[in-house]
Formats: sequence, structure tokens, C-alpha cells
Amino acid sequence: MDDLSRRSGGRKAKSVVFTAEQIATRVASLGREITAAYPDGDLLLLGLLKGSFIFLADLVRAVERPLQVDFLVASSYGSGTVSSGNVRLLYDPATDLAGKHIVVVEDIIDSGRTLTRLVELLRARHPASLAICTLLDKQIAPEPPAELRFVGFHAPPAFLVGYGLDHAENCRHLPYIVDLD
Ligand code: IMP
Ligand code: MG
Repeated sequence: MDDLSRRSGGRKAKSVVFTAEQIATRVASLGREITAAYPDGDLLLLGLLKGSFIFLADLVRAVERPLQVDFLVASSYGSGTVSSGNVRLLYDPATDLAGKHIVVVEDIIDSGRTLTRLVELLRARHPASLAICTLLDKQIAPEPPAELRFVGFHAPPAFLVGYGLDHAENCRHLPYIVDLD
């Protein structure tokens, strides 16, 4: 039994899209980009749960300047499974955002709608600056959010799981990213 079947209960992947080594190398360089981008001021990384939990944990350890960490839980609502663009915060960070440099950390940008609405909500809290860091960008968002500043990888237009990304809550724990059958 190979590593993927053992970890995922027999799911088959078409291919490994990003290996653990590729991810680690890219996350280290994103950490350096973020370190260089914020020479001063208070920095707060806001991880969008649940998808960003592994990426955020690795990313903060690659940033070599003081920072704080908090989380956001957002819920898109509307009809069906298509992202409606209406976003509600289920967990609102306790931390005060005013005057801080905020980096929202996301797993993957698909339509981009969730983040576009979310940044509007966060702008109203008067941060010093607001940027988005995503591990993956499918580059299919018709209007990508203007705040998108740090991108790990351009991703193929497939359904990807692992390294935090799920399929019906499964496969988040895979240490690599695969394209599911
Ligand atoms: P958007 O608002 O359409 O950009 O939705 C982005 C959200 O959809 C991400 O935070 C993920 O939770 C989910 N998502 C989009 N594409 C994928 C994928 O390929 N695999 C797993 N989750 C995905
Ligand atoms: Mg998800």
C-alpha cells in the first residue's frame, strides 16, 4: 500500500501536484518576502480557517520579525455549493486590527469571492495596511482581490487536497498536495 492510500483510506490521486519538499522551499521564500515587506510596524497574520492551518503554522516560523497570529472563520452563504459572495464571520478575531499591518493567510483562491468580501469587512477596522497571502492561486478569479500580494504557487484548475486543503473535511493532513481522481 502506498503512502497516499495508507493516509487517505484508499483514495486515488491522479498526481502529486506539489511535493512536501517543493512546499517547504516555497514557504521559506514566502517567509523571506513577508519579512522584507514589513520593515516596521505591528504585523498580524490572520489565518482563514480551516484550510490555512498547516500553511500558517509553517509560514509564521519562516518570518524573521515580530508578529502576532489570529484566525478568522468565514462562512459563505447563499444557494447551493457555489460561493455566493456573501460572507459572514463565524469567528471574529479578538485582536484589535487598527493601525496594524494585516496579512490574511488563505489556502487557495478559486473564484476569489470569499476574500473580496472579507477584505471589505477588514478594511472597516482601519488597519495600517491589508494584504493577502495565498498558498495557491488557480488564476481563474474574474476579479482577483486588489490586496493579493503573496502567492505560493499557481495551481492547475483541478480539485486539490492536502497540506490543509480538504475534500468533505478529509485529506487535510496529507503532507503534500494531490489532484484527486
Ligand atoms: P473562492 O471564494 O471561490 O475563491 O473559494 C475559495 C475556497 O474554496 C478556499 O478557501 C477553499 O476552502 C475552497 N476551495 C477552492 N478550490 C479548492 C480545491 O481545489 N480544493 C480544496 N478546496 C478548494
Ligand atoms: Mg474547504
